[in-house]
Amino acid sequence: MNAFVYDIPTKVYFGENQLKNLGAELSKFGKKVLLTYGGGSIKKIGLYDKIIEEINKAGLELYELSGIDPNPRVSSVNAGADICKKENIDVLLAVGGGSVIDCTKYIGAAAYYDGDAWDILLKKVPVKKCLPIITVLTLSATGSEMDAGGVISNPETNDKIGLIFPVMQPKVSFLDPTLTYTVNKFHTACGAADILSHIFEVYFSMDQDLYMLDCVMEGLMKTVLKYTPVALAEPENYEARANLMWASSWAINGFINGGKRQAWSCHPMEHELSAFYDITHGLGLAILTPRWMEYTLNENTVSKFYQFGVNVFSIDESLPQMEVAKQSIDLLKEFFFETLGLQSTLTEIGINDANFNIMARKAATLGSTKYAFQPLAAEDIEKIFRMCL
Ligand code: NZQ
Ligand code: ZN
Repeated sequence: MNAFVYDIPTKVYFGENQLKNLGAELSKFGKKVLLTYGGGSIKKIGLYDKIIEEINKAGLELYELSGIDPNPRVSSVNAGADICKKENIDVLLAVGGGSVIDCTKYIGAAAYYDGDAWDILLKKVPVKKCLPIITVLTLSATGSEMDAGGVISNPETNDKIGLIFPVMQPKVSFLDPTLTYTVNKFHTACGAADILSHIFEVYFSMDQDLYMLDCVMEGLMKTVLKYTPVALAEPENYEARANLMWASSWAINGFINGGKRQAWSCHPMEHELSAFYDITHGLGLAILTPRWMEYTLNENTVSKFYQFGVNVFSIDESLPQMEVAKQSIDLLKEFFFETLGLQSTLTEIGINDANFNIMARKAATLGSTKYAFQPLAAEDIEKIFRMCL
């Protein structure tokens, strides 16, 4: 195992009725709270009123930024940063899914930056300071509630960029699975694909000496495979929603990395799909991942796919390695496209090859290939996009 530092400085309140602690946690950082949220789901599910009640009980001063889009825009980051600067906000409260939380991370960073927040992403301006962030998660998918990353879109330039800055890590996250009961089938399925992809990006690595973490990752994958169909059939099944929620956080909070050298492959490709076509992140990953696997499967990589097939899908270990590997990819396709009911091709969602060349070149630049399971140049990425048609 390589050397590594393990540090997850996010305090988690997990389970129902934990919001009673919200006022006290916010108060630790000051009086002025900027509440950030999306297109209104938090009002429909009655969460907004509960949050306001807790804020009022604690005697805090409330400011709001609403309307944060899925695939959050840099315009929302700038709008939030303006409020922070003008009102001297002390603490940010992000209530929603990954889009709201990501946007809030950059609001916290841009509050200390003079200029357009897009500079931070485009020019990779180092973020050394960020307002404290507390999150209330309403959708299990990205793990943004427990990581230091965030992804922002600029529709004017067809860019979607993600960076990681430790100071953007949420200080506290409230994870109440009942808040995800209202997430529709599509977003529940996309969330599952995202959680799986976060694990795959680490699991499919050439560093093979992490048995303990491989077992953890296989357990997390099995959790998603087991409980997503339950959540789809019974949206208010607490056990299913709770398992998915905790798996989403642990898929990307750093624990499974364990110093494993890695280069994420499907995420840079998917970010181009979302940048150009504003599609849901998890859907893009579901379409891309099995094709990336097919493209990547060869004599050097087959043993990892064999391990995946045997340990995650319980495929007969006595079969030839290549046979197990291919079956495992087929079973993953079956899970995404039949069990979860997600669309299986880019053509089905109205995407053709018009921008594949530019998207592939951008993905090759944004992704890092140094420690890749299978290094991908722009030509490889373009071929994978074509396999998704
Ligand atoms: O906007 P509202 O009205 O809140 O509706 C949202 C949105 O339409 C709705 N929703 C959320 N919670 C709900 C709910 N509807 C009913 N009941 C609830 N309880 O769901 C829709 C999608 O929400 P969004 O936040 O966009 O989804 P997700 O959590 O999947 O976030 C996606 C964004 O996160 C980025 C993605 O690229 C994408 O921009 N990612 C962030 C990562 C990170 N920070 O580490 C890593 C990921 O790989 C990913 O790239
Ligand atoms: Zn993701």
